Amino acid sequence: MAAPLLIAEGLVKQYGSSRVVSDVSLSIARGEILGLVGESGSGKSTVARMVLRLVEPTAGSVHFDGIDVLHASDAQMKALRRRMGVVFQDPFAALDPRMRVRDILAEPFAIHNDVQLHGAELDAKLTAMLEEVGLDAAALPRYPHQFSGGQRQRINIARALALQPEFLVLDEPVSALDVSVGAQVINLLRTLQRTRGLTCLFISHSMPLVRYLCDRVAVLHHGRLVETGDAVAVCEHPREAYTQSLIAATPEFTAPALVE
Ligand SMILES: Nc1ncnc2c1ncn2[C@@H]1O[C@H](COP(=O)(O)OP(=O)(O)OP(=O)(O)O)[C@@H](O)[C@H]1O
Ligand SMILES: [Mg+2]
Repeated sequence: MAAPLLIAEGLVKQYGSSRVVSDVSLSIARGEILGLVGESGSGKSTVARMVLRLVEPTAGSVHFDGIDVLHASDAQMKALRRRMGVVFQDPFAALDPRMRVRDILAEPFAIHNDVQLHGAELDAKLTAMLEEVGLDAAALPRYPHQFSGGQRQRINIARALALQPEFLVLDEPVSALDVSVGAQVINLLRTLQRTRGLTCLFISHSMPLVRYLCDRVAVLHHGRLVETGDAVAVCEHPREAYTQSLIAATPEFTAPALVE
């Protein structure tokens, strides 16, 4: 078996006297979706940010494709950044309101200074990116406030995928959306994950959603992992009372008809 793409070991995050993440170890195989679930404040986003080195862990290690992420040089980190995409919970806060969609989508290329596309060539590239997430070229000259929450999250996803990352962190990408709109975005993510063979860390507070989308699940409670396993098996036969309470707390996830 191939080595996991991502291995996090013994992650700890301490803020002052409060330890918000304690000894969290995770691994994600290539092409796998790992769900990380837990109630609000359990430390999910903190774990994700440590994995991406957006928050410095108090202790622990992260390896991505064999590279020691926490000790990577600036140059290594820049190379890693393009291999790791991220979509945050709030589609409103994540997009700069003063930027047109064209500039939002072109920004990753400018930062990484690779594809030097201009004019019609650039528009064709950005249009293809929009079409992959169910939007079209009409979005290019518009500003974020001119879109619905679901459309905005699609723009965030297009941007996260711009540099063809292998790994995508999705931090509650649909929890700010209406159920039916969120379900369409979930199906889009599922399609993209399959067509691109993405490896994903999917954060959610919903066990039914994790069961629908993820291969495996890790359950976080007060910053500690309490249960890890196959997503369906954990949902059907949770070992921990905390996992049972999480399952009971969330309504069933109903998959929408595939319209993508
Ligand atoms: N920069 C910080 N300084 C101090 N405490 C923090 C900081 N960031 C997060 N915390 C605390 O760490 C704990 C875990 O927060 P985190 O955002 O990781 O939870 P979460 O599981 O993502 O919650 P939610 O589902 O609401 O997004 C919370 O108690 C939070 O208040
Ligand atoms: Mg969070």
